[in-house]
Amino acid sequence: MSLSDPGLVLGIETSCDETAAAVVRNGRGIVSNVVASQEDIHAHFGGIVPEVASRRHAELITAVVDEAMRRAEARWDDLELLAVTRGPGLVGSLLVGVSAAKGYALATGLPLVGINHIAGHITSSFLLTEGDHEPAPLHFPALALIASGGHSDLALVNDLGDYHLVGFTRDDAAGEALDKAARLLGLGYPGGPAIERAARDGDPKAIELPRPDTKEGFEFSFAGLKTALVRIVEPEGPGGGGHSVADLAAAFQQAVVDCLVRETIEAATHFGVRQIVVAGGVAANDTLRRQMTVAARAGGLTAYFPPMSLCTDNAAMVAAAGYYEMSRHGPASLSMEVDSALQLPS
Ligand code: KG4
Ligand code: ZN
Repeated sequence: MSLSDPGLVLGIETSCDETAAAVVRNGRGIVSNVVASQEDIHAHFGGIVPEVASRRHAELITAVVDEAMRRAEARWDDLELLAVTRGPGLVGSLLVGVSAAKGYALATGLPLVGINHIAGHITSSFLLTEGDHEPAPLHFPALALIASGGHSDLALVNDLGDYHLVGFTRDDAAGEALDKAARLLGLGYPGGPAIERAARDGDPKAIELPRPDTKEGFEFSFAGLKTALVRIVEPEGPGGGGHSVADLAAAFQQAVVDCLVRETIEAATHFGVRQIVVAGGVAANDTLRRQMTVAARAGGLTAYFPPMSLCTDNAAMVAAAGYYEMSRHGPASLSMEVDSALQLPS
């Protein structure tokens, strides 16, 4: 069921700790993109507190949607579709977004689609943005790496909206590993950016850390890496054992990046794709961006990354994914439910 030009879609995202709404044109053009982060609140607790997150989403959602509509200079009858993340994520947080979206659908008569958050992240690589950022070209098949706080997935991208899971993590996600390492090193929350900042003054080769390889399919495993860091740090405390926090952060970040690059290049080679797209919060990491780019080029491939603002959670990616979901599968029923463990099809 295709939308007619300009196919304006309002997207809503509340799966974790960002309350976000956005208007996107024809599945690729960002008209407005509003994100209210709860980072400061959760930093206070050293991580996301689900109860606090859902309450905050409930407080913010209407104002965030109004702001996305205002910045888009759109009226409700300019829109053709509503799209909302229905999983995976925190169940209470997802419920706020999905309930709000159902309310807007009932009030406006607009059709509604439910979006897989991971499909949203993949779609973010193809969004057109202002400035000189180059979006991933529409060359398929491509391979997507989605590395975030909740996921380290590899997906085969056959077309926009046609994504198949081909790899995942057995234990911790890459962002989760970085968040845990940052807590261990006393660097605060969110851990990924904190590790990245600390690592700038460190030597990634100063400390030897493992690069766990499951040897099975394209699976990640980061739990052993975290345990290795615990063994170094805990007897002495951060900065003990003669290691600086900067060196520990640099070595840990390098080990995570090496694992992500290795499995992604192996999978891309296996599936014979020419193009890699990297998405999710960890895709904001500069070391990952540089080293994935170099490794891809060495294998005759090209790696693309969304701009920083589209790496972390946002609703532009949800609105864009909604456009393709509608054209492939049509609208969802208003009895659609959230699914906190939703996966991409294999
Ligand atoms: O995609 P996202 O915003 O939310 C989830 O869906 O999880 O990803 C958040 C994750 C966190 O673990 C955070 O530490 C990590 O992305 N992250 C980074 C960077 N910025 C965010 N990791 C490494 N380097 C960064 N610059
Ligand atoms: Zn995410």
